[in-house]
Amino acid sequence: GNFKMSKIVITLDGPAGVGKSTLAHKVAANLDLPYMDSGAMFRIIALELGEEALEMSEGQLESELENFRFSIQGTGEASQMCNNGKPAGDDIRTEEVAWLASNLAALPIVRSFLRHAQRELGKQTSLVCEGRDMGSEIFPQALCKFFLDATPEERARRRSRQLAEKGKSADYSTILDQILTRDAQDRNRKESPLRPAKDAVLIDTTDRTLEEVLELLLGHIKHTMSKRHARQVAK
Ligand code: DC
Repeated sequence: GNFKMSKIVITLDGPAGVGKSTLAHKVAANLDLPYMDSGAMFRIIALELGEEALEMSEGQLESELENFRFSIQGTGEASQMCNNGKPAGDDIRTEEVAWLASNLAALPIVRSFLRHAQRELGKQTSLVCEGRDMGSEIFPQALCKFFLDATPEERARRRSRQLAEKGKSADYSTILDQILTRDAQDRNRKESPLRPAKDAVLIDTTDRTLEEVLELLLGHIKHTMSKRHARQVAK
């Protein structure tokens, strides 16, 4: 049919260590769309500004934030979150940076700055995006919303396996502790706490393999897209 395709947004939200980023990469690759890693945006700000950011006045923080310009390069597995044209490095992936990111993410100034940046990226292109509030807050109009969960123990096991594969030390009980603390902070903050959107599909991944979850996600997305296609053709 000769109809105009509007932009598509697919959101994956959930707690730390649930496998969101691996899955979002694979979903984006399957659909050949850019992948927006919203956590990376908080992490980039955390790494760049450091702990000092927590001591800044609102005005100071606001003017610091104006120096960040986010963009996405590439699609699928090759998608990269960039600040001022430069792709984020592996140095944003430490648990120290994650913890500072989680602290900054509770500040209204930081959230409203990134809310705007994220919605701008969504205006430019269709997206697969991943985070804590993508479906509940940033993209309420998203075509498919997923909320992934798993027990903290399973998430800590996955995280330590992932770190071990990269040759990094990975003490299970330390990781479990970090996951529990960061989740509690992300769930209990006032601004956009971690929670499923009302219309999100909830998936408990505890007893499912990555491949099984990916199949569930893609099945649901393809089904929704074909219904949408049929509706548009009928118009
Ligand atoms: O997904 P991640 O581990 O890279 O995220 C790091 C922190 O950033 C997370 O603990 C909370 C914050 N965050 C957020 O508040 N909202 C998002 N959409 C993504 C991340």
